[in-house]
Amino acid sequence: MVRAEPGPLNAQTGAAEAAAAAAGAPVKRAYVQRMFSDIAPRYDLLNRLLSLGIDRSWRRAAVHALGWTRKPAGRYLDLCAGTLDVSAQLASESGFGGRVVAADFAEPMLRSGRGKGPAGRIEPVVADALALPLAGASCDGAIVAFGIRNVAGLDAGLEEVARVLAPGARFVILEFSTPSVPLVRAGYLFYFRYILPLIGGAISGHPTAYKYLPESVAHFPEREALAERMRRAGFTTVTWRALTFGIAALHVGEKA
Ligand SMILES: C[S@@+](CC[C@H](N)C(=O)[O-])C[C@H]1O[C@@H](n2cnc3c(N)ncnc32)[C@H](O)[C@@H]1O
Repeated sequence: MVRAEPGPLNAQTGAAEAAAAAAGAPVKRAYVQRMFSDIAPRYDLLNRLLSLGIDRSWRRAAVHALGWTRKPAGRYLDLCAGTLDVSAQLASESGFGGRVVAADFAEPMLRSGRGKGPAGRIEPVVADALALPLAGASCDGAIVAFGIRNVAGLDAGLEEVARVLAPGARFVILEFSTPSVPLVRAGYLFYFRYILPLIGGAISGHPTAYKYLPESVAHFPEREALAERMRRAGFTTVTWRALTFGIAALHVGEKA
């Protein structure tokens, strides 16, 4: 096999591909699947480091918002499950007696998460968010944490979640957002656009993954716009709240 040598031209091509993926070009699906497969071994370490550990409390808030206590023995979907942090958080909750289907199309991410959470409650499935191998109305709730932004086709992704949820089941989206307060926003954007790509690139060894991250957030709908897209996809009583100065946001809706 002939391998392309790393060099200025390849670096430019890589950056252009990441920018196109972040903007939603047709290359997005392939880029995202390859990129997460590449960074899987370092993904958890980088998450903890780059968020100073705050990401754990965001995932806890998302699991709480799911309202799984309404049906503790139910079947829940962790969409774009990655290294299974959300699945493990949900499956480890005291009183939880159900199952978590952890779907992701990057198998190395799922493999990196093996062993997390109590045995027998998490079912990892290699699957595309746009074509889930689940029957209609077969899930009692769903969460997607930092995943829906990466799906090539936001509306189709939301509609696919609506398809697999039972009427009245909750859907929780945890996603990056941008702080609104001007001073916080400026400081945060400096970190997110310039410091994070340097640290992320150095530790992951991936040339573009942590450039793609801020660019994809910039292209993602703002909080109220995302709520509206959820309503259009078939969710009612959609609400959202900002987390940690608006660095992240939690959206919650119910399948109509
Ligand atoms: C930033 S990671 C989030 C992982 C995990 N939810 C978390 O909280 O850390 C995004 C994940 O979404 C997955 N993903 C993106 N598009 C997808 C798609 N169309 N179908 C399935 N998984 C997808 C990626 O493979 C990746 O593992």
